[in-house]
Amino acid sequence: MKFFIDSADVNEIRQANLKGWVDGVTTNPTLIAKSGRSFKEVIAEICKEVSGPVSAEVLATQSAEMIKEGLDLAKIASNVVIKIPMTEEGLIAVKKLTSEGIKTNVTLVFNPLQALLVAKAGGTMVSPFVGRLDDIGIDGLAMVEEIVHIYRQFDFATEVLVASVRSPLHIEKAALMGADIVTVPYKVMQQMTHHPLTDKGLQMFMEDWKKSGKL
Ligand code: E4P
Repeated sequence: MKFFIDSADVNEIRQANLKGWVDGVTTNPTLIAKSGRSFKEVIAEICKEVSGPVSAEVLATQSAEMIKEGLDLAKIASNVVIKIPMTEEGLIAVKKLTSEGIKTNVTLVFNPLQALLVAKAGGTMVSPFVGRLDDIGIDGLAMVEEIVHIYRQFDFATEVLVASVRSPLHIEKAALMGADIVTVPYKVMQQMTHHPLTDKGLQMFMEDWKKSGKL
């Protein structure tokens, strides 16, 4: 399973990368805006830090502009993946960019049928948003399970990138379902690291060692 970090904060990405948590990066307009920096500048900097795929989202809504924007963003670095919203216009852009050899990540996917259309258009990755479905009382992970099942049935090459991850449990369940990739905020990656018994066990070992007088 590949781990992407969902962030546009270069320092955070660097920290996560040091720990082996970064096979790739996803950004979105909200995260870029939060960074307070220029879009292309941030993407270029992230691409220098990370060798895996870095998703940069188009802001256009019409396919011709999306394609133009995608071609332009793809020039930033060879590992840029063009993130495109799940719309009819978006699928046109996905098909065209795929035919030009450019990788795509279709975002804002909320059901298996949308994911099926992404695979048919030749998208490299599909991003089902788990947390935002949970927020409205619909089981986000159940959607992921169905997408994985459908993709395996027909051997689609599109990778399932589980997005809108809010807790370590989302990651554990997505891994059990065989999702290809999970994109995780840094805070959740840190939460995954810790277990109270690990901390307690370490403290006990240190105290016992101190008591033995060997320090
Ligand atoms: C993924 O590509 C998105 O950037 C992200 O996972 C959205 O997460 P959110 O629903 O927590 O904003």
